[in-house]
Amino acid sequence: MTDSLPRHVAIIMDGNGRWAKGKKLPRIAGHRAGVDIVRKTVRACGKKGIDVLTLFAFSSENWRRPKREVTLLMELFVRALQQEVKSLNKNNVRLRVIGDMTALPPKLQKLIKKSVELTENNSGLTLVIAANYGGRWDMTRAAQRLAQKVADGQMKPEEVTEEMIQQHTCISELPEPDLFIRTGGEKRISNYLLWQLAYTELYFTETLWPEFEDDDFDAALASFASRQRRFGRTGEQVENA
Ligand code: FPP
Repeated sequence: MTDSLPRHVAIIMDGNGRWAKGKKLPRIAGHRAGVDIVRKTVRACGKKGIDVLTLFAFSSENWRRPKREVTLLMELFVRALQQEVKSLNKNNVRLRVIGDMTALPPKLQKLIKKSVELTENNSGLTLVIAANYGGRWDMTRAAQRLAQKVADGQMKPEEVTEEMIQQHTCISELPEPDLFIRTGGEKRISNYLLWQLAYTELYFTETLWPEFEDDDFDAALASFASRQRRFGRTGEQVENA
């Protein structure tokens, strides 16, 4: 692995609805086509030796969509998991799910638990699915857990450090995202991994998610490889390091 390859890629898969509309299909057809691109992207990450891929499947705000679309999306998640988990396991992929699982349909919760347990000892790509996830939810939960520890006398308020907060956010044991990709033309973070994206390189493309093929992923990786990551230092310091 070289420095020019990100260890962790985090993606907002946007544009499924517009892709479907362009083809005069129902929105769910766009999400279905999106699953095929998820499969291809997971495969590409495994092949390239990327350690972590985090996908925003459903945000805390997505409940505001028409009820029917939400129901169909949940059914699609169930079906996709049922169909893919064996192949993920065979390919040494470790599945993780982040977000407030309690609001998901019980059937989906059970399937997630089973799939995560089945793959937890795999050592290849870690695939993190953000489902009913929000960056503010993540940080609020971290704050609540720390506040509880202070209230219980386990720590003092001044011991709440950046490291402490980091340790109480989701996926704190994984490397932070090196590269963020958003498809579909919008240039927003949309309450994704707010804490974790502090130093992440951002890449936006007009390509709609169902059309985000291997070439488009390669273009994003090439853009990442051409950037100099300074983490607050000067360009000279980085070059001489
Ligand atoms: C955003 O497109 C997409 C979503 C809210 C859902 C993403 C879900 C998938 C790609 C399905 C598969 C995922 C997994 C992990 C199995 P949009 O509907 O906002 O598109 P628009 O902006 O064009 O309306």
